[in-house]
Amino acid sequence: MKLNVNGKDHEVDVEDDMPLLWVLRDELGITGPKYGCGIGQCGACTVHIDGIAVRSCQLAAADVDGDVTTIEGLGTPQSMHAVQAAWVDHQVAQCGYCQSGQIMQAASFLDLNPDPSDDQIDAAMSGNLCRCGTYPRIRAAVKTAASKLQGV
Ligand code: FES
Ligand code: FES
Repeated sequence: MKLNVNGKDHEVDVEDDMPLLWVLRDELGITGPKYGCGIGQCGACTVHIDGIAVRSCQLAAADVDGDVTTIEGLGTPQSMHAVQAAWVDHQVAQCGYCQSGQIMQAASFLDLNPDPSDDQIDAAMSGNLCRCGTYPRIRAAVKTAASKLQGV
């Protein structure tokens, strides 16, 4: 099957039911998306398909209909996405395991809702779990990123 990931076309020879997360990590060596629960409950595996956040452990690679973006393709150290820059500003990460999923979820959310309320931020991020409890910094960083994206 063919997949476009981070702007690059790939051809992979895998079973149709192999989850996208496995294809990304094991076939393409793109390890930003993490395996957390494998059952769609934690968000560690979150990537974008045409800009929309999806859980790559729950989606068969054969069913991907659009361009895939992982944390590796969201920005670069020289040109960070506003969400990544806000994460650095607030030093959000602790162990870091959940953080690529958190950032991908936040970036997709802010694309759809650039001026969210605190409750909307909490609701949008509530499905992305963090064992280290970085939730207060996540909320603050999402607010900072929203302000930057609005040019405030
Ligand atoms: S690993 Fe996909 S939601 Fe937990
Ligand atoms: S930073 Fe450790 S699980 Fe979130």
